[in-house]
Amino acid sequence: MAEALISVLLEQLASVIYEYTKEKVTLVLNAEKDVESFSSNLKDIQAVLEDAEKKQVTEARVERWLEKLKDVSYEMEDVLDEWNTEILRQQVKEKKKVCFPIPSDCFCFGQVNKVIHHHNIARRIKELNDKLTLIANEKEMYGFHQSTNRGPDEQLIPRQKTTSLVDISTICGREEEKEILLSMLLRESSQEEGRFLIIPIVGMGGMGKTTLTQLAYNHEKVTVHFEKKVWVCVSDPFDEIKIAKAIIESLDKNETQRSSNELETLLLCIKTHVEKKKLLIVLDDVWTQDLKKWENLKLPVIMQSCAEGSTILVTTRKQEVAKMMRATSSMIHLDKLNDEDCLALFKSIAFLDRKEDESNGFGTIGAEIVKKCKGLPLIVKTLSSLVWHKKTKEEWHDVLNSKIWELEEVEEQVFRPLLLSYYDLAPAVKRCLLYCAIFPKDHEFNKNNLIELWMSQNYLNWKQNQEERRIGQSHFDSLFLTRKECLVTEVVEAANQRPGDMVHHLTLTGVLVGPFSFPTSFYNCKSMRSLTAHIFGMITISPDSILQMKCLRTLNLSYNHLNELPKEIGELVHLRYFNLSSTTLKELPDAVCDLVNLQTLVLDWCVELEKLPKAMGKLINLKHLHVDSCFKLKYLPKGIGSLKSLQALDCFYVCDDAEDDEALKLGDIGIMDQLQESLWIEKLGNAKDESEFENAQLGNKKHLSHLGLDFGNGNEEQRKSDEEILKALQPHQNLESLSIWSCHCTTWPLYRIKSLHNLRRVRLGYWRFCEVLPPLGKLLSLESLEIMAMHNVKKVGVEFLGIEEEIETFSAGILFPKLKRLLIKDMANWEEWEGIIKDSSEITIMPRLSSLEIVECPELKGLPDFLHKITALRTLTIEDCAILERDYEKGVGKEWSKVSHIPNIKIG
Ligand SMILES: *[C@@H]1O[C@H](CO)[C@@H](O)[C@H](O)[C@H]1NC(C)=O
Ligand SMILES: *[C@@H]1O[C@H](CO)[C@@H](O)[C@H](O)[C@H]1NC(C)=O
Ligand SMILES: *[C@@H]1O[C@H](CO)[C@@H](O)[C@H](O)[C@H]1NC(C)=O
Repeated sequence: MAEALISVLLEQLASVIYEYTKEKVTLVLNAEKDVESFSSNLKDIQAVLEDAEKKQVTEARVERWLEKLKDVSYEMEDVLDEWNTEILRQQVKEKKKVCFPIPSDCFCFGQVNKVIHHHNIARRIKELNDKLTLIANEKEMYGFHQSTNRGPDEQLIPRQKTTSLVDISTICGREEEKEILLSMLLRESSQEEGRFLIIPIVGMGGMGKTTLTQLAYNHEKVTVHFEKKVWVCVSDPFDEIKIAKAIIESLDKNETQRSSNELETLLLCIKTHVEKKKLLIVLDDVWTQDLKKWENLKLPVIMQSCAEGSTILVTTRKQEVAKMMRATSSMIHLDKLNDEDCLALFKSIAFLDRKEDESNGFGTIGAEIVKKCKGLPLIVKTLSSLVWHKKTKEEWHDVLNSKIWELEEVEEQVFRPLLLSYYDLAPAVKRCLLYCAIFPKDHEFNKNNLIELWMSQNYLNWKQNQEERRIGQSHFDSLFLTRKECLVTEVVEAANQRPGDMVHHLTLTGVLVGPFSFPTSFYNCKSMRSLTAHIFGMITISPDSILQMKCLRTLNLSYNHLNELPKEIGELVHLRYFNLSSTTLKELPDAVCDLVNLQTLVLDWCVELEKLPKAMGKLINLKHLHVDSCFKLKYLPKGIGSLKSLQALDCFYVCDDAEDDEALKLGDIGIMDQLQESLWIEKLGNAKDESEFENAQLGNKKHLSHLGLDFGNGNEEQRKSDEEILKALQPHQNLESLSIWSCHCTTWPLYRIKSLHNLRRVRLGYWRFCEVLPPLGKLLSLESLEIMAMHNVKKVGVEFLGIEEEIETFSAGILFPKLKRLLIKDMANWEEWEGIIKDSSEITIMPRLSSLEIVECPELKGLPDFLHKITALRTLTIEDCAILERDYEKGVGKEWSKVSHIPNIKIG
């Protein structure tokens, strides 16, 4: 964990120094110098961390040293964040200055404040630097090994580079696999397989894939059999140029072409070296599943020009890699090592040059240790090397009883493979994984939420050139659990706990009536980063408690019966994620707008919430604002329109008082082209005319995939404006999903949506004055259509197919070409469903329909013939439709024979 923390911190230090020069936030007391000295100390420490993290498992004083280091690092992170916050606040002020000039005397006062504040930050940086200097000096006492420096690329997934050299002392077992591999390599004829063979060796980390490969590579017969041998350590990222260069280097150290950066040149050069020769090429540790990258390297093409019997040997953890290379049939899978071989391996290392110890009682302890290794050679190797240094039986016992095994309880199945790969992960990924431990056991993760949480902890910010969300997704791929810094506990019990100050992520549950006070026993946890409280009976939080948690990045108070929040909430300057969903708050304190770092604010299902604070435009970092199902919310404050970072706004409430200047108007979202994902416009019936709607410029929102319009069911009259609005509706071509509720017009003025070629899903409902269904048959991508509660519809005619106007000219083609699912529900007066007038065999309707549901249509007299003819139909549901149920009754209804071929039928 320390390694993760420190790498991220080093990047922050670098960026803050950069910001410092850019923004000219002057600090006093030589703060820049202290920051630089701090980074340099930290880099020295980083060099020995890998060793320290391993040693802490068995040495308590190293563990304490790491704790101290982590504390200072956490504190520094907070100070830097405050510094950044200062920069942000200045930006907010600048912004404000344009709109409402601040009186000049106030500004002066602000300046004085600022100087004091900066002095304070600078002083703390200095103190932290002093502390770190001491820690750095202490490290000499522990005799850590330096790890080799890594380039920036390798930091992604730093792993040791392998070579073809093999350490014979550590090979035990794998006899069978070795035989198979050798016979494949030395195969006589290759008629079945073609000219050359790709052999993937697949197994999880630490299984000995590389060792086995080295063994085969160096085998005498193999050396004689192949004219050229090449060993390349690939790792991640898969860089074609680097790999090609490594191949050339291995073929010929003198080759001048290897300095080229043209892949083509490099590949040609390889080809000239290996043409007509029998070649063995090892690609060790391949991670990429990207077919394009693999194809770019053109190895199979080159192999075609080699002599018959040439071979590519690949080691990888992922079976998908073998699939990508289309080589699953020749795959060798390395599973766990058997107990005997494990023991032999352990002995070969642990008792090296101390054979006599084996019979002196060390042997039995060793055997116990081996049992705990569960057949993983890498663990055996690691531990046997560890105990080799330990001279007393006591020390061996310590290893046997050490904490490394405790983790075993966490998740037997998941943990083992992950511990191994855990040490191989990039620091930033480790951090994300460790964070998952804040969830209670058996918690189901929601990927997107988790990524937002990681963002809130600033875990994904470490490489600017990639998108945070994408990084988050890739980090999600593996999960790891720890209990160290995360604590889940009962609120009442918490009062009696002595948690120590390393708890950074806390989850409290239980019952407590009245205002919540942060347990005093936790007051020493000064750098608490996450808090989730789910406490029955909690109505608010005491201001004092908030002041005890000033470092919070993540605060989850959802599902509590909160009535109010104190204004002190604005003191949580580091806060990134604040979830208040399903609480009973009526309003938020204005101080919430001081949270300039806030990225995610969740207010879904705050059914009592009446308004949001006016100054929300100050939340310049807000990316996600969730306000779905806030039924009493009249409008969103105007300032939201100016939030350039805002990507997700799930709900927009149209204000019924057009004159209200505090409300965000429909037209104001015209400039918010950055909106992504889903947008619902609620209470659209309040909009007075279509120009307001047109100004919203939905056509420019190219990142929106879903659009929902809810006109609201306020009054029962027809509204002319609803029709005008729909006439103006023209979302961006990229739209994939559209819902329209409660439109009070009589027809379907949806002319322009015909051009939405990416629209896959449409849901329409509660059009209480409408008499016909919309013409949607020509939407090329439409896959799912739901129509509900159209109580005025008596007849569905050909207009629904979308050919009404052109019925005379439309004589051939496919209508609803991609439709898979059709649901029509709650149509109280619907009687007739007409297929197609002309008897035309050239027209195909809904050829791909696989699921048809007709529900609550009691007056409907029959289904059109075209439905009976759809061969794709797998599921037919008819429910609460009296007439249809009679006519389609299983076995006896008069229409039964027309549908009896459908595999799943549910009638009644
Ligand atoms: C590379 O150059 C050295 C010295 O010029 C020479 O002895 C050696 O044989 C060359 N190696 C190859 C593979 O050509
Ligand atoms: C907020 O919390 C609720 C309830 O715990 C959860 O269902 C929801 O997914 C959270 N929202 C976000 C955006 O994290
Ligand atoms: C937030 O808290 C609620 C209630 O305790 C819990 O169900 C939910 O999983 C938490 N969500 C996150 C993202 O921590």
